Amino acid sequence: MHPAGDRRFSVRHLLDPPALQGTFAEDVRRGLSAEPKFLQPKYFYDALGSHLFEAICELPEYYLTGAERQILATQGDAIAAALPSPVRAVELGSGSAVKTRHLLAAILRRQGSLTFVPLDISPGVLERSARELVEAYPGLRVEALAADFDGGLRALAEDGAGRRAGEHLAILFLGSTIGNLDPPAARRLLHRVRSLLDPGDVFLLGTDLKKDERILLPAYDDALGVTAAFNKNLLLRINRELGGDFDLDRFAHRVRYDRRRGRIEMHLESLVDQTVRLRQLDFSVRFAAGETIHTESSYKYDSEQIADLARRTGFRPAGAWYDRDRRFAVSLLETAGVDKLPA
Ligand code: SAH
Ligand code: AVI
Repeated sequence: MHPAGDRRFSVRHLLDPPALQGTFAEDVRRGLSAEPKFLQPKYFYDALGSHLFEAICELPEYYLTGAERQILATQGDAIAAALPSPVRAVELGSGSAVKTRHLLAAILRRQGSLTFVPLDISPGVLERSARELVEAYPGLRVEALAADFDGGLRALAEDGAGRRAGEHLAILFLGSTIGNLDPPAARRLLHRVRSLLDPGDVFLLGTDLKKDERILLPAYDDALGVTAAFNKNLLLRINRELGGDFDLDRFAHRVRYDRRRGRIEMHLESLVDQTVRLRQLDFSVRFAAGETIHTESSYKYDSEQIADLARRTGFRPAGAWYDRDRRFAVSLLETAGVDKLPA
């Protein structure tokens, strides 16, 4: 028995579990040997971490989701009207794609059928959302890619993102996930996206906007402690997958705003002098009391920074939509002449 939706969705797995495990081990060893210590935020998103992120999106303090949802739900038709047609939509870091649905629905109202290519490092969430989307929208076909940005963009470059003759490409990068990349990495990613696009294709970018710390800090340090659990889950993941013996009670979730860099930082602070052992790596790491592991940065943008990022990576800002309180922006970037790309 195959419900009709099954024929309209596929998941291509580019994540090879043993290779992934090896990279995770190397990255953890490198990050915990560095001064100051760090871990990459892409490792938050194992199965539990992805669920914790979805819980964060429900928190009253985490205004980002509600603000972007408001933009896509109330202005989705205007955004869809600004996209080329017919269009194929690719989304980087799609997660549950709950907000993206509003835009997909608006595109479907315009062109009747649509192929959506969600790409995410978290295969469980990707598969669930792909299944739910085809069930909800009869005109939708989903060609999901379980991949990290690097491998996923390489695969998209190889097969031209699977586009059919006459189809334009809209690459979506929503949810402020660009904020988790430092400026050079953000520029590298936009360059790679730009190289996938032809004239007339577009990039749609969701960014969280700069605002008062009294709003920013609680968004990353909520009263219920869900963000703290999301952060500490990284230590649990190391315990589970690399034989670590992190004691979660000996670390605390810390959040600060670096105003000069315009970024929220999440850290895990060691509450005591301690040594943690990672059995599978045959590796021990010492922590002084008060020392932290930097686990995530979340850059906040203003309109000039978005325009500057666009221009430096071969794009031209072509429109932006905001929520009522101007907390969040969804910006449309069109391709500009490739000859303007910096080396
Ligand atoms: N776009 C969704 C999810 C944002 S959370 C929203 O706005 O709610 C960030 C998403 O990006 C997660 O689903 C995570 O699994 C994915 N992700 C994070 N780093 C990634 C990487 N390096 N490659 C691919 N996906 C990544
Ligand atoms: C996915 N990303 C945009 C989130 C953010 O706001 O930086 C991840 C997150 N970290 C803590 N809360 C949410």
